Amino acid sequence: MDEKVVIFDTTLRDGEQAPGAALNPQEKLEVALQLERLGVNIIEAGFPIASPGDFKAVETVALKIKKCGVCGLARATRKDIDAAYQAVKKAKRPRIHVFLATSPIHRKFKLNKAKDEILRLAVESVKYAKKYINDIEFSPEDAARTEKEFLYKVVEAVIDVGAKTINIPDTVGFTEPQGFGELIRDIKNNVPNIDRVVISVHCHNDLGLASANSLSAVLNGARQVECTINGIGERAGNASLEEIVMAMWVKKNIFKNLYTTINTKEICKTSRLVSKLTGFEVPRNKAIVGGNAFRHESGIHQDGVLKEASTYEIINPEDVGFIIEGIVLGKHSGRHAFTSRLEKLGFKLSQKQIDEAFIKFKDLADKKKEIFDDDLLIILDEEIKKVKEIYKLQSFEITSGNKIKPKSAIILKFEGKNVCAESSGDGPVDACFRTIDKITKLTPKLSDYKISAVTHGKDAQGEVTLKLTIKNKEIFGRGSSTDVIEASIKAYLNAINKLVV
Ligand code: KIV
Ligand code: ZN
Repeated sequence: MDEKVVIFDTTLRDGEQAPGAALNPQEKLEVALQLERLGVNIIEAGFPIASPGDFKAVETVALKIKKCGVCGLARATRKDIDAAYQAVKKAKRPRIHVFLATSPIHRKFKLNKAKDEILRLAVESVKYAKKYINDIEFSPEDAARTEKEFLYKVVEAVIDVGAKTINIPDTVGFTEPQGFGELIRDIKNNVPNIDRVVISVHCHNDLGLASANSLSAVLNGARQVECTINGIGERAGNASLEEIVMAMWVKKNIFKNLYTTINTKEICKTSRLVSKLTGFEVPRNKAIVGGNAFRHESGIHQDGVLKEASTYEIINPEDVGFIIEGIVLGKHSGRHAFTSRLEKLGFKLSQKQIDEAFIKFKDLADKKKEIFDDDLLIILDEEIKKVKEIYKLQSFEITSGNKIKPKSAIILKFEGKNVCAESSGDGPVDACFRTIDKITKLTPKLSDYKISAVTHGKDAQGEVTLKLTIKNKEIFGRGSSTDVIEASIKAYLNAINKLVV
């Protein structure tokens, strides 16, 4: 009989814990909707007690997601569990995930609690969560470094009070495939009531083994894998969804009767979305989703692939929705070439959206000789996720140099009127941001600023992603242009507009 391996996606919780990857509720929802299209089974949408923003994000995802389960994380305390329940209660399939560390290191240095106390808290918290809903997952945090006998005891006790999924985390990425597989087998053989639950695993990538460890666990009886898109997460990250799913797909001879519900063709699109919204670039050599994953440089490889792709490719790029750069568009390209490329990229836009995107495409083609897929993705991104432009850039001028203080003059449209201001700054970008602050009368702190080239060539578009902090609120902005100053202004206004909207 075929058996399903549940894909529990924690991109929006553990993934988002990666330093600098914060997402707002709207962005989380956007990722969640794409995860649903991808076919994951459970979305861990956040840690509701952590902040009002995270509570709102989990609640928003819970309301909108119809096919997958939606889970909120909680420590083993009533306050955490209450918040998790309140955030997920309107989901079609709500789940609360309670965790409590069990390893000697965590017991001694983090919790300062003896084994008995840990056991009692674990049982009490699961019992408490059960009052709200049936679907409770329990994680003995740092399970991979916990004494096995104690781990069996905790696991057995929480199953007795109704936990439905037991997740075994390798919290610090300490284990290796053989040892972790053995641990799962030992849990199966030594916990008498284990057949009542799904065994899950949650691996971190500190030794680069998270996916291998997860797969080994699956071969030894785990039937849920916790993972993230692009492997993002705390420190070196979590096990990456695309690696686990595609390894099971390619190695059907080993994962014989096991399957996942993932629509593999959505993998690259999901990867791009997560990368864009978190601002975490995918390394070019990243398995499955990296820019070079299906590129062949050496003549021998190119020749082999042209003769027969399977000589050097174990996966057909189309099976993961990897788009090989096809025709390059330019200013003479017509609407037909434009729309058919959009379709190839997997986008179905309304006529109005196509019309507006086409105008932007033509504008860009006037500035840039060749338009690559990544350029199109930026246009689409702006079109689909349009933020209402309360402040809209009309024009800007800068004077800068190594012997003068940079100055900027900017005109923005606000409430139907043009408003202008001038300012100087430490550099031209700083001068522009100060000028905008004068117009908006807001004084956000710039807490992050990144600039990267979207494609290649001297006329490549620059994309700026930045983070503004204002009154304890963090807002991300993104803007792109062939002119990096303009990209910076657009990114700054994008964040400001999100704030004022
Ligand atoms: O890594 C970890 O142990 C976790 C738990 C909360 C499951 O993220
Ligand atoms: Zn984790």
